[in-house]
Amino acid sequence: MLSKRVNKIGISHTMKVAQEAKELQAKGENVIDLSVGEPDFPTPQNIKNAAIRAIENNFTKYTLNAGTIELRKAIAEKLKKENGLDYSPNEIIVSAGAKQSIYNAVQALIYNDDEAIIAAPYWVSYPEIVTLAHGKPVIVNASEENGFKLTAQQISEAVTPQTKLLILCNPCNPTGAAYSKKELEEIAEVVEEKKLFVISDEIYEKLVYDDFKFVSFASLSEKIKSRTIVVNGLSKAYSMTGWRIGYAAASQEIINALNKIQSHSTSNASSISQAAAVEALIGPQDSLEVMRKEFERRRNFLYDSITSIEGIKCHKPEGAFYLFPNVSEYFNKSTHVFKITNSFDLAMYLLYEEKIATVPGSAFGAEGYIRISYSTSMEQLEEGARRLKEAFKKMSV
Ligand SMILES: Cc1ncc(COP(=O)(O)O)c(C=O)c1O
Repeated sequence: MLSKRVNKIGISHTMKVAQEAKELQAKGENVIDLSVGEPDFPTPQNIKNAAIRAIENNFTKYTLNAGTIELRKAIAEKLKKENGLDYSPNEIIVSAGAKQSIYNAVQALIYNDDEAIIAAPYWVSYPEIVTLAHGKPVIVNASEENGFKLTAQQISEAVTPQTKLLILCNPCNPTGAAYSKKELEEIAEVVEEKKLFVISDEIYEKLVYDDFKFVSFASLSEKIKSRTIVVNGLSKAYSMTGWRIGYAAASQEIINALNKIQSHSTSNASSISQAAAVEALIGPQDSLEVMRKEFERRRNFLYDSITSIEGIKCHKPEGAFYLFPNVSEYFNKSTHVFKITNSFDLAMYLLYEEKIATVPGSAFGAEGYIRISYSTSMEQLEEGARRLKEAFKKMSV
């Protein structure tokens, strides 16, 4: 009954753990949810007020397919001021979340076995989005030793005559790894030499720590800019996941293609959310720093707790709101009820034994790890850290 296309993509293990966690919660169990992929803060009040005004002013109809001129101007100004990038509003499209921009960009560039290079650990949707476009995801292992970052050499070696695209996640979900300017420049050389296109997913741009300086890939040179689709959005930086506002900026030709695709699927993003997004971008920015600092405090706390557990190694992430500890020392250990052979077993053990929800590394193409989100209150994190210690203590290494 179902198409070959849909049968090619899978439901990940992430869903299974999340579903079991929800079922436990429904039974009244006190589950500490460290699996979340969104900021826990409310959307700042000035942004909410802008949306309320939009409704009261009847700004509730279709907008231009690519988004309102006001919002695309605000995005162009943001890209200029913060990233040193010159885009006109016509080189920008607003979509229902960054995910839709990525989906549209892949649809515009990939077809018929074109290859897209993706670093593992990867954000779960990249390979499936490439597969849905009839392309071939080429997964390259970004090693823990290299801070979960791809090297230019690895990319160069993965290129074949079919390679069209590199998808770069910077900072990365699930590892929090972020690329330095030098690392990006090395990658840029390969991109130019091999004539690749790059989707640079910069959705976690604002969440970087320890004075890390974020650099947008397209800002490296005009040539690189012409080969890059910058993807960003308001979900993570402004705690606006439910509002569904993301965007892509690229050459006119590419944006025209994205516009065409979007016009035959969802059309414009919500008019009300677009009005709120204008306020987010041009209004006061103080709440961003408050949220960023709190994330940094939590990262430091959880990192210290996790790395004090015997047998666990963890790369200290530069950004995002996840830790991605190596838990493989605990594989092939038994507890009174569980035999743990992989990250899925471990996540299920943590859930059933200590009521902590995490995401197994296998969901991100990286066995041997679990993803722990610190997007929850400090009280919850303290309790989560206590339970994690307890759970690992019960399995002596
Ligand atoms: C790396 C990455 N890219 C894109 C997205 C999608 O964000 P949006 O809410 O804007 O669709 C997410 C959300 O989890 C993400 O982690």
